[in-house]
Amino acid sequence: MDTSADNDPMMASYILRTAALLVAFAVAGTGILAATESVTHETIAENERKAVVRTIDALVPVTSRDNDVFADRITIVAPESLGTDKPQTVYRARRMGEPVAVVMESVAPDGYSGAIRLLLAITADGTLAGVRVVSHRETPGLGDYIEEEKSNWILSFLGLSLSNPTRSGWRVKKDGGVFDQVSGATITPRAVVKAVHKTLQYFSQHKEQIFEQPANTALATKAAP
Ligand SMILES: Cc1cc2nc3c(=O)[nH]c(=O)nc-3n(C[C@H](O)[C@H](O)[C@H](O)COP(=O)(O)O)c2cc1C
Repeated sequence: MDTSADNDPMMASYILRTAALLVAFAVAGTGILAATESVTHETIAENERKAVVRTIDALVPVTSRDNDVFADRITIVAPESLGTDKPQTVYRARRMGEPVAVVMESVAPDGYSGAIRLLLAITADGTLAGVRVVSHRETPGLGDYIEEEKSNWILSFLGLSLSNPTRSGWRVKKDGGVFDQVSGATITPRAVVKAVHKTLQYFSQHKEQIFEQPANTALATKAAP
């Protein structure tokens, strides 16, 4: 008995319908995947935006500024000073057009487990209004005391500047500076202190340009000699 599809119209139509169904499922599946990917991407971007806005609000009081800080931003590539060759975003706070503060991204490249991403709020006179860790891979329970949720360590930057303490103070206590470290986990705070100090130096050297640069453009600065 010959049951091949060539000779059996019922079988041929069954195979065709099955093939059509398979194609339909594949197309629908790909569509759903693409849609999910796009929604996930948007959700991540939106969550990051909210986290940055929360940090800006926490470090630069709303009452001290009257512009849309999140929108008034520029990017800077300054690997020597900001610890990464990726563009870092600087959000600028102003009041009646006058500079109030910046909230700027920076990276400590030499944490125990690699890069530690930071956000620094610096008032126009060069004083730190706060530092926060955005992401890190330091060891849980050992190097993660740099997180605000884990300890007060990161709050110790509040009110400091390039002149307070002076250059030699911008180290952990173990290296002769003013910053605490947890014994047995000195690499992490050493990296953060160095990155904050370098970022303050960069801000002080380029403050005018940072505030004058048109929003949504990239500022090109040369490394300091
Ligand atoms: C598994 C493991 C994980 C570690 N994680 C960290 C860390 O996240 N941060 C850190 O500073 N040191 C970490 N250390 C310790 C460093 O290797 C180094 O010994 C320490 O930072 C030096 O600090 P001290 O000079 O106070 O002894 C870790 C060590 C080991 C074995």
